[in-house]
Amino acid sequence: PRPILLTRHGESKDNVRGRIGGDTAVSDRGEVYAKKLANFVEKRLKSERAASIWTSTLQRTILTASPIVGFPKIQWRALDEINAGVCDGMSYEEIKKNMPEEYEARKKDKLRYRYPRGESYLDVIQRLEPVIIELERQRAPVVVISHQAVLRALYAYFADRPLREIPHIEVPLHAIIEIQMGVTGVQEKRYKLMD
Ligand code: F6P
Repeated sequence: PRPILLTRHGESKDNVRGRIGGDTAVSDRGEVYAKKLANFVEKRLKSERAASIWTSTLQRTILTASPIVGFPKIQWRALDEINAGVCDGMSYEEIKKNMPEEYEARKKDKLRYRYPRGESYLDVIQRLEPVIIELERQRAPVVVISHQAVLRALYAYFADRPLREIPHIEVPLHAIIEIQMGVTGVQEKRYKLMD
């Protein structure tokens, strides 16, 4: 069986400021995570010559992958974070205060709610289809460095979790979810590398 390792990028400057979306760099703590992740990947995939590292096209995932050496890196736009449209760059408090109807609508149906000029979780799930097809086709391990909403959807696919749960699945920063696809089904391990 070959593993798929799922992880969010290291903490970003927008994570620190509590802002959604954006394309900021990683924070100092995010950089520490990137190094720990590189260490982990190097050990875990030592003899796996055909393994590859997949990121989104956003800085924070590319920077998180940068200390990893010895494996090819592929950028996928389909791995970019959910597009928050007009709310991109805002904090949840700002959305609640300035666009209360949007805030309530999302709270009511987070799966189907589409940000004005942005995406819903259902949109994200749909655009991930080619990534999932390619992941299924791979015979070698893959490390996917992506974002909270996207990883919720990817994880739910492999762990066979129902659609309605997807927007609420916990995918913390600085942790790795390892998925093993074997003949007996899917097994899962989690590694928390730092807080
Ligand atoms: O806060 C980090 C982040 O990745 C945002 O960029 C994104 O909008 C959000 O998480 C997705 O999580 P939720 O769907 O719970 O708002």
